[in-house]
Amino acid sequence: MAECRPMRETPLASLLIREHRRLDELFGRFLAAAHGDHASGALEAIVGFDESLRRHTAFEERYVLPEPEGRKLLPTEEESDGTRVSRELRLEHVQVRELSAMIRRILEESQDVGGARRLAPNLARRWDRHTTREEKELPRLEEEMGESVAAALREAGSA
Ligand SMILES: [Fe+2]
Ligand SMILES: [Fe+2]
Repeated sequence: MAECRPMRETPLASLLIREHRRLDELFGRFLAAAHGDHASGALEAIVGFDESLRRHTAFEERYVLPEPEGRKLLPTEEESDGTRVSRELRLEHVQVRELSAMIRRILEESQDVGGARRLAPNLARRWDRHTTREEKELPRLEEEMGESVAAALREAGSA
């Protein structure tokens, strides 16, 4: 939400926040189609959301959320706040991607709009909570990225 944004957004923060809003819009299209019982429209919208979500989270995992040390997504004994935040945000990615894939699958395999609609609030809640938290943590995450900010922006085509 605009009122929660930091006063001055860095180029990387604006890019990621713009992508969040774009994903919100795609998800909104899916909701509208699902609530209108429009199976093909709902499928088309969730495919767009799912693919953009995969690209967006892969980019963040490559550049913004450092690889957790040792035991993948489980906490290590002594982890810094930054490492904990990264690990938890990565874990939220897994959960959001799973839900998005489930909705996509039930629409692809059985055109079950009712089933898709029942899963939607869970995905909406998790996605919203994730992006709110991530946007709040962005200044700290970006600080920890150091020089890889430039590489991230190069890959995104913004520098
Ligand atoms: Fe994320
Ligand atoms: Fe994100």
